[in-house]
Amino acid sequence: MDRSHLPIGVFDSGVGGVSVLRELRKLMPNENYIFYGDSKNAPYGTKDTETVLKLTCQDAEHLLKQGVKALVVACNTATSAGISTLRQKYKNIPVIGIEPALKPAIEKNPGQLAHPHIIVMATPMTLREEKFHQLMRLYEFHADIFPLPCPGLVEFVEHGEFDGENVTNLLERLFEPYRNSKIDGVVLGCTHYPFAKQTIQKVIGPHIPLFDGGAGTARETKRRLRQEGIFSRSAEIGTVVFQNSLQDTFILNLCRQLLER
Ligand code: DGL
Repeated sequence: MDRSHLPIGVFDSGVGGVSVLRELRKLMPNENYIFYGDSKNAPYGTKDTETVLKLTCQDAEHLLKQGVKALVVACNTATSAGISTLRQKYKNIPVIGIEPALKPAIEKNPGQLAHPHIIVMATPMTLREEKFHQLMRLYEFHADIFPLPCPGLVEFVEHGEFDGENVTNLLERLFEPYRNSKIDGVVLGCTHYPFAKQTIQKVIGPHIPLFDGGAGTARETKRRLRQEGIFSRSAEIGTVVFQNSLQDTFILNLCRQLLER
């Protein structure tokens, strides 16, 4: 059966995964997408791993029931808790995850510094999990890596607040320990954070490069679809359907706005 016309299922704990959906659409505009956000249970990043694993499997089921041809886990936290379980459970479709963009931050550092100082902003869970520790071990001889858990930031983005006094105050408090340190790059290791990019840049200074994993995840998704022979053959621009565990107009409108941001 030809599955190339079927939609790609993309999910996140909430609206943050739209930053990945944006990249997917840029790279593959002819695909159809269903985006599911579990805003009712957001944030995931401050919960325990077992709970997040359960929620991640529920999110995947929600999309699989609708006949998607591939699953994109547009959430670093859900990827660390559940990607291996999802891959074991659903062997017949590609399951693509996201991880903090440490590799590009080190390899594509504009100054090509010998031993850059990189801050990784992410949820407490992402930074606590073994998956991130493995990633850190890969690069620990090439850079000084500083994990920075950012509880609270996701909630602002979920409410459509990306700038203003409260977000700025939170970010200033988080970056306070690095005020007088040399920083060569900051990784946005949570898919909600790219929406607060301008405020982050304002707080850390305009010359420090920011890195996120959205574009890399989109490229990997394209590679997998081609490999499986299920890349869309349509010449038309595809559709995007937004769904959310909160049946609420505010959150669905926020997703639509974020896609165009
Ligand atoms: N957007 C998610 C991520 O990439 C997590 C947000 C949350 O804590 O729910 O990690």
